[in-house]
Amino acid sequence: MPKESKSMTASKSIKATQVFPEHTNHLNTMFGGHIMANIDEIAAITAMRHSESNVVTASTDSVDFLKPIRTGDIVTYEALVSYVGSSSMEICVQINVDNPFDGTSELAVLSFLTFVAVDKDGKKASVPKVYPTNEEEEWLFNTAETRVQQRMSKRTESKNTVSFLNQIKEHK
Ligand SMILES: CC(C)(COP(=O)(O)OP(=O)(O)OC[C@H]1O[C@@H](n2cnc3c(N)ncnc32)[C@H](O)[C@@H]1OP(=O)(O)O)[C@@H](O)C(=O)NCCC(=O)NCCS
Repeated sequence: MPKESKSMTASKSIKATQVFPEHTNHLNTMFGGHIMANIDEIAAITAMRHSESNVVTASTDSVDFLKPIRTGDIVTYEALVSYVGSSSMEICVQINVDNPFDGTSELAVLSFLTFVAVDKDGKKASVPKVYPTNEEEEWLFNTAETRVQQRMSKRTESKNTVSFLNQIKEHK
C-alpha cells in the first residue's frame, strides 16, 4: 500500500559520470540525444521510487541546454519529484558540470518531464502527494502551478494537432 505523502528528498536520485569521446560529437561536446536518454532514465527511476510502481513517460516538457558539456567533464545528474497530480508526477532533472579540483559546479542542463504511474495491467494508478524539505525543493514545488498550466495548454494544442493529422490521414 503506497504512503499518503512522501518528501521530495526520499525519492531524489543522483548519478555522477565522466564524459567519454563515444558520447560526444565532432565539436567534442556531449550528444544531445545521449543527454536526453540519461535524463529520461534517472527521471523514470525517481518516479518509480516515489510512486512505488511502474511508470511511463507522458511527456518531456522542457530540456534547456544552458552550457556545453565537454569530453572529460564530470557531470552529476540530479532528479527529484517537483509536483504530483493524481497519477502524474513532474520530475525536475538538473545536470551539473563539477570541477573536482576546486569543488565548484555549474548548472549545464535543466529539464522537466511528466511520468504517469501504472498498475500491473498498465492502467494509471494514484501516487502519493509530495512535500518539500529545503529551500531548493520549496522553490520547485511553489513554481509547479505555472508549469502545470503551461503543460495543460500545450496538451490541448497537441491534441488538436493529433486530431487534425488523423483526419488528414483518413482522407488520403
Ligand atoms: C501517458 C498515458 C498513460 C496517459 O494516458 P491517458 O489515457 O491520456 O490518461 P489521462 O488523460 O487520464 O492522463 C493521466 C495523467 O497523465 C497526465 N498526462 C497525460 N498526458 C500528458 C502529457 N502529454 N503531458 C503531461 N501530462 C500528461 C494527465 O494530466 C493525468 O494526470 P493526473 O492523473 O495527475 O491528473 C498514455 O498516453 C500512454 O500510455 N502513453 C504512452 C506512454 C509511453 O509509451 N511512453 C514512452 C515509453 S515509457
